[in-house]
Amino acid sequence: MNELPLQGRIAVVTGSDSGIGRAIALALAEAGADVAISFRSKQESAEEVAEKVRAMGRRAFCARLDVSAADTADQYFEAVTRELGQVDILVNNAGIDGKTGDVAEIGIEDWDQVINVNLRGPFICIRKLLPGMIARGKGVILNITSVHEVIPWAGHTAYCAAKAGMAMMTRSMALELKDSGVRVVALAPGAIRTPINHDVWEDPQKMADLKTKIPLGRIGEVEEIARIARVLVSDDASYLTGVTVTVDGGMTAYANFSKGG
Ligand code: BGC
Repeated sequence: MNELPLQGRIAVVTGSDSGIGRAIALALAEAGADVAISFRSKQESAEEVAEKVRAMGRRAFCARLDVSAADTADQYFEAVTRELGQVDILVNNAGIDGKTGDVAEIGIEDWDQVINVNLRGPFICIRKLLPGMIARGKGVILNITSVHEVIPWAGHTAYCAAKAGMAMMTRSMALELKDSGVRVVALAPGAIRTPINHDVWEDPQKMADLKTKIPLGRIGEVEEIARIARVLVSDDASYLTGVTVTVDGGMTAYANFSKGG
């Protein structure tokens, strides 16, 4: 029997108590990886994910991690290494949409919160794990961005700035790491049914508007992102670094040009 593609690999997926992070954690475990789960507030949901990973016969670690706080990140990653071993795969998934509002209205602390979690947080996690990956000559960093790394979004300027920053971090780091054996890739989901956008998919009117923005005409499901993530962190993607792979039902393909023009 063929070995599973991620057999024996150790992966960290931040923000894996729900949504896309949860689906990625489960997909990586299914592909053979041992997985470190993290949560900011929903411990019970996170423990449930860890249990599912164990039920697949993999090892799981689960603890609280606020990616924007460097000291808790230190403790978290030290515990992961102690419990599971050296990390091969880091999925920077934890993120927030933050307070919605025009730049003229939001406060400095609202801006900082989004940038701290969505941009500074991934840097903190990378900084902790990268030296080990470089020393061992292998590793994959997968940054979960968004279509809003390229699509502007009124009322979400900090979010867009953070996601665009994460994309450029991916590209610049890939150059820094060109000879190291470590790949850095970004995955940009479109509109995916998760707790972050429940206000949209629970409201028929908002949902109708959303569909006009998506050529495939429907919201995506978390598994559709997780399946691609699983490939991107595996050796099947060995020739991929410094790019964003966009999984968005065509959202970035200018849906309103499907007719007329
Ligand atoms: C946001 C979602 C939104 C999607 C498409 C994501 O980055 O978190 O709320 O539905 O982009 O606009």
